Amino acid sequence: MPKAKAVKHKGMPKFGKQLLEEKSEDERILQKPQTQTQKMEAIRRPEYFERIKTGISGFDRLFGKGIPKGSSVLVAGTPGTGKTIFCLQALYNAVKNGEKGLYMSFEEPEWRLRQHMHDFGWKPEIYEQKGSLMIKRFDPFDITRSIEALLTRAKKELLIDVEPVFFPPNFRPTFIILDSMSAVAAAFVGREDSYRIYIEQLFRFFEEMGATSLLITETEDPESLSLTRSGVEGFLADGIIIMRNLKITGGETTGGERVKTIEILKMRGEGFQQKIVEFNIVQGRGIVIVNV
Ligand SMILES: Nc1ncnc2c1ncn2[C@@H]1O[C@H](COP(=O)(O)OP(=O)(O)OP(=O)(O)O)[C@@H](O)[C@H]1O
Ligand SMILES: [Mg+2]
Repeated sequence: MPKAKAVKHKGMPKFGKQLLEEKSEDERILQKPQTQTQKMEAIRRPEYFERIKTGISGFDRLFGKGIPKGSSVLVAGTPGTGKTIFCLQALYNAVKNGEKGLYMSFEEPEWRLRQHMHDFGWKPEIYEQKGSLMIKRFDPFDITRSIEALLTRAKKELLIDVEPVFFPPNFRPTFIILDSMSAVAAAFVGREDSYRIYIEQLFRFFEEMGATSLLITETEDPESLSLTRSGVEGFLADGIIIMRNLKITGGETTGGERVKTIEILKMRGEGFQQKIVEFNIVQGRGIVIVNV
């Protein structure tokens, strides 16, 4: 059982605001953003902020340059829209480009995710053997139990350390996929306060690591994520990508046709085209954007 302890915000003394202000302009530009303060600094100077590309051409072209490194981005959509495949593809391409990737699955088993990747012609084993990719399944109820135990021990202390709860030891990824927030939330039903605390800590943890994260969220109404501020994920996220299964022709119940679409709804610190683009999921290739 992990030990309850207050979060010490390990990065803070080193990267705190005070220290940042003491640094010369050149040093600040060269420094990799780690904390919220640094992220905001970097966002004000986007030309110095590194980006991640998904490798999905057509989608990447919607951005000025790409997803700002260190961002937490929600990938939200209705069931079966391709969220898992999109994230596997982005992760695989990022790892090929030198990122250290972790796929945290709270839904599908590891073998099935590898199977998806093989279907699309990707070879995760190469990078798993090199140590630059890890695909790992977690039981969301293990998280609930551990968080409840930590909260009970921490009593009035609201800050807990999520790291020992779930993170693979000795693996420090730079790019993380979490599939899905909804599966984690489902395990916290009736304990929404604990979920909120957990999610806040999780975002903070990713931020302190300086990792870029794509967080899959299943939602019937993806738009509501940015319109309402009630959802803790939408509020904390730096970006939102929306995937939909749109009905485009036919009657109410028969003769219809659906298309899959993807759009960027929000991306802090990066210009992007507010376009809804259509895509197909193609055997041997993965996500392919139509007409670009
Ligand atoms: N090998 C394949 N070739 C072509 N299309 C595929 C293939 N595998 C899956 N698909 C398509 O991808 C869709 C599911 O993709 P994915 O599992 O990424 O969706 P999801 O949004 O993660 O779904 P869920 O909400 O169930 O987790 C299926 O509806 C199917 O149309
Ligand atoms: Mg999925």
